[in-house]
Amino acid sequence: MNAPEHPTHLSFSLSAWSAQQLASVEEALSRWVACPTSAPAPADLGDAMRYAVLDGGKRLRPLLVLAACEAVNGNPHAALRSACAVELIHAYSLVHDDMPCMDNDVLRRGKPTVHIQFGEAQALLAGDALQALAFEFLTPDDDSVDAATQARLCRMLAQAAGFQGMAGGQAIDLASVGLPLNSTQLHEMHRLKTGVLLQACVMMGAACGATTPAAEMALRDYGAAVGLAFQVVDDILDVTADSVTLGKTAGKDAAQDKPTFVSLMGLQASKDYAQRLLEQALVSLDASGLEHTTALRALADMLVNRHH
Ligand code: IPE
Ligand code: IPE
Ligand code: MG
Ligand code: MG
Ligand code: MG
Repeated sequence: MNAPEHPTHLSFSLSAWSAQQLASVEEALSRWVACPTSAPAPADLGDAMRYAVLDGGKRLRPLLVLAACEAVNGNPHAALRSACAVELIHAYSLVHDDMPCMDNDVLRRGKPTVHIQFGEAQALLAGDALQALAFEFLTPDDDSVDAATQARLCRMLAQAAGFQGMAGGQAIDLASVGLPLNSTQLHEMHRLKTGVLLQACVMMGAACGATTPAAEMALRDYGAAVGLAFQVVDDILDVTADSVTLGKTAGKDAAQDKPTFVSLMGLQASKDYAQRLLEQALVSLDASGLEHTTALRALADMLVNRHH
């Protein structure tokens, strides 16, 4: 009898892989974000920055960067810096998203939001400083990441964070309160406010190595599908999960009359849609021609089937 085949994905443990990857991410964030001993920030700003970034969050974005880098066998120094940089942009976006002028939330990652803990002005500044620090991470003053890659990573992150990405999407979100967006408009809002940054995680990880045009296009499609699926699931969990599980206030979208996939198509259709996007993401990986996509596959599955 032939020996049974054991494809890697059957023996792959996402939690073990994630724990290993995140050990270096957490260590780097703790060392690089306004470290009280080596790079203290004035007047409690460092405390607010560290509070916003450390001890919390699922770290999905760093994991996507590192998984994409693994798929292209890229430079691990560039990938670690990119993973941390994207998480800083994400953390800053959450600090500002929670402020009274935006979603006015008091709970984030199971703790009082930054403006509740440190005041509004300090929350604003912590967000600003985290955004700047993200680009400092991407431009190390040594030879660990070549200059062309540094510039490319900075451009990708800047585009994903700014008016063509997260900030633009947040503007649409705020302008859409109480409005019944149609499907095209809602897709565009979600693509910008969340999808583009998640897609950038994948493309930045890929930019840490070399890809064929076909692999690059496939990863772009994968990133678009998981990016959209992520926010569809965020909309679903706002309805189905409780605040303790989420670590943030549940039921906020309906309470604030935000257009979401659940309000547009209903709960079950939203769940079905998230599953279809997962299938699309996996089909894209099949088309990539890349061998080491096990972690990317498992992350897509986790991101869509998560409970918090
Ligand atoms: C929440 O993102 C904000 C959105 C973009 C929907 P996450 O669900 O990734 O939040 P953390 O990082 O785990 O706290
Ligand atoms: C926020 O979307 C997206 C960001 C760019 C921060 P939400 O407002 O839905 O995120 P949560 O639900 O507060 O985490
Ligand atoms: Mg919001
Ligand atoms: Mg919010
Ligand atoms: Mg939400």
